[in-house]
Amino acid sequence: MSDSAHSHGDQQDPPFEVQFAQRVYRLPPYMFGRINALLYEKRVAGNDVIDMGMGNPSDPPADYVMEKMCEAVKDVRNHGYSKSNGIRNLRREVAAKYLKKYGVRLDPESEVMVCLGSKEGFSHMCLAMMGPGDTAIVPAPYFPVHTYAVALASGNVISLDVANSEKFLSNIAYTCEHLYPKPKLLIICYPHNPSTVTVEPEFFVDVVKIAKKYGLMVISDFAYADVAFDGYKPPSFLSAPGASDVGVEFTTMSKGYNMAGWRVGFCAGNKEMIRGLGTIKGYYDYGMFQAIQIASIIALREGDAAVEAQSLIYQSRRDALVDGLVRLGWDVTPPRAGMFVWAKIPEEWQKRMSTMDFAMMLLEKGDVAVSPGSGFGPSGEGYLRLSLVENENRLRQAVRQIKGCLKEAEAESITA
Ligand SMILES: Cc1ncc(COP(=O)(O)O)c(C=O)c1O
Repeated sequence: MSDSAHSHGDQQDPPFEVQFAQRVYRLPPYMFGRINALLYEKRVAGNDVIDMGMGNPSDPPADYVMEKMCEAVKDVRNHGYSKSNGIRNLRREVAAKYLKKYGVRLDPESEVMVCLGSKEGFSHMCLAMMGPGDTAIVPAPYFPVHTYAVALASGNVISLDVANSEKFLSNIAYTCEHLYPKPKLLIICYPHNPSTVTVEPEFFVDVVKIAKKYGLMVISDFAYADVAFDGYKPPSFLSAPGASDVGVEFTTMSKGYNMAGWRVGFCAGNKEMIRGLGTIKGYYDYGMFQAIQIASIIALREGDAAVEAQSLIYQSRRDALVDGLVRLGWDVTPPRAGMFVWAKIPEEWQKRMSTMDFAMMLLEKGDVAVSPGSGFGPSGEGYLRLSLVENENRLRQAVRQIKGCLKEAEAESITA
């Protein structure tokens, strides 16, 4: 058929236009785009960039987990669609871990769900709970998913500063008193990414009180449950009395178990919220590859020693990086948990350039990739997030390269 067959008389069809849904336009430009593009360019050019950008674990899962995976892959029974909410034995293993580690009793049938990574579960939970006109309270600076999953679900976000936990709680109460209609959802995340703020168990008791008083549903993102230092044990939100009446908690195999690419996460807690998540998931996915679920059972059942050993590795890396930065004169508080250092950019550099430009300069001149705090919202301005996925020697080398880069930039500014 010729082109003219599509035209009406002499008139040509208008150029075809792809039109995204409004929800896509609600998303901001990707803040790490500039950094990632330069990182890619550097890599293509053969530069050895020390990458402290993403929290993507570089160590392998335990041998017995990988062996179980290989064995399960060879079992022909594991290749069909699995159950959307996860196989029973995996849900039971999650419940067993909650009981052993946090003293929390969960019904694996109705209070635990397997997700394709906690990010998937979190986003779909927002889709199940939020809609136009609904508001969620999100800690600031924010892990991008916390804000944008709400935006994608057509909800509105109020960001409250997470740095001081007492103030955070009183700001939540104030917002609930004064906003109309009241916020519907509270998102919390401890150990917090990116700020590394941690809390004690009593904090969650207060969260439950506030949630009950104002009818707020709670989602606790507990991604860094398994990565903690110096004897600190991150508490679970679900261990607060009545927590399961008001909310759920997401955990993951990505961080403590080095299984980020496997995409294994869990949602536990409030039955009704989990039922809502299950309804959405039932339309979107057919569950996780069963071989992965079987290997995850073994990882959970036998993983305590491996998880502890991994935390010690992060702890040594934290010490190497924090010591180095402090020697450069930076104001850095060593984190008690998580995979990041949240470092304040020295005042003299903050006066000269934006956080984004500072991070770009470290990459450009120093071959060191970090996440600018401003990528986590305006309250991250003035900070860098440095992840602990490189080994200790490379982290020490990164500090030397940062020092060299700043010296060079200083000299340039004097001669300019
Ligand atoms: C706070 C937080 N929540 C969730 C996730 C996503 O974890 P998952 O791999 O389980 O999707 C991350 C990953 O970086 C994270 O930092």
